[in-house]
Amino acid sequence: MKILFTGDVVGAPGRDMISQYLPMLKNKYRPDWTIVNGENAASGRGITAKIYRQFLADGADAVTLGNHAWDNKDIFDFIDEAKALVRPANFPEGTPGSGLLFVKRAGIEAAIINLQGRTFMPALDCPFKKAESLVAKARERTPVIFVDFHAEATSEKQALGWFLDGKVTAVIGTHTHVQTADNRILPKGTAYLSDVGMTGPYDSILGMEKEAVLKKFITGLPVRFEVPKSGRTQLSACLIEIDKKTGTAKKIERILINDDFPFIAE
Ligand SMILES: [Fe+2]
Ligand SMILES: [Fe+2]
Repeated sequence: MKILFTGDVVGAPGRDMISQYLPMLKNKYRPDWTIVNGENAASGRGITAKIYRQFLADGADAVTLGNHAWDNKDIFDFIDEAKALVRPANFPEGTPGSGLLFVKRAGIEAAIINLQGRTFMPALDCPFKKAESLVAKARERTPVIFVDFHAEATSEKQALGWFLDGKVTAVIGTHTHVQTADNRILPKGTAYLSDVGMTGPYDSILGMEKEAVLKKFITGLPVRFEVPKSGRTQLSACLIEIDKKTGTAKKIERILINDDFPFIAE
């Protein structure tokens, strides 16, 4: 069985890439589960009910989030009904939404977990301890467990990968918006990738207009970052092949679609 996961979708350009390419990717790779990280989907900040529903219509089975989860206040109106939405699990007790989701396909359940890092990021509950308890809970139902670890530091991501090796199917990083080339299967069978990368504006700085980011670096003055309205786009994803009996990963492949790496249908 297979999981297809696309990284942080940024604004309308990212959403257009999902609508255009997700059906083609699903046709090519035939994943059993398709997961999209949507934390930047609404103008780079958060997600709305309409965007969430569009991801499901485009073929997503689950939508994960991150530190931008709450940026668009719409989320508080629909998170309780949005059964396929997964927010970082290590927010304080009582936070709306859930950090663990089960999705059944072809008689097999996949557990989908979202966690947020703490290094160079806001203080939250310990992602390692939270992972430990959620994985134990998930394993009572299924060995197929996918973890989106939304974190800044590669060291923290590698640490969680080794911490969960053999206990989950995959630990895949999000948040840095740049795809890393370190996809591998760890010794006990967990697929690992430090960051899957961003889906959105290609000629940008992490998905935002480069002029504004440059101004901020050069002048140090406060600047509002916006998603470019036009221009070239890209999609970043990965594909994980799973042994459904053990839940271990057999293969992890990176997927990058842009003008330098065009999509090949076959
Ligand atoms: Fe992001
Ligand atoms: Fe993020």
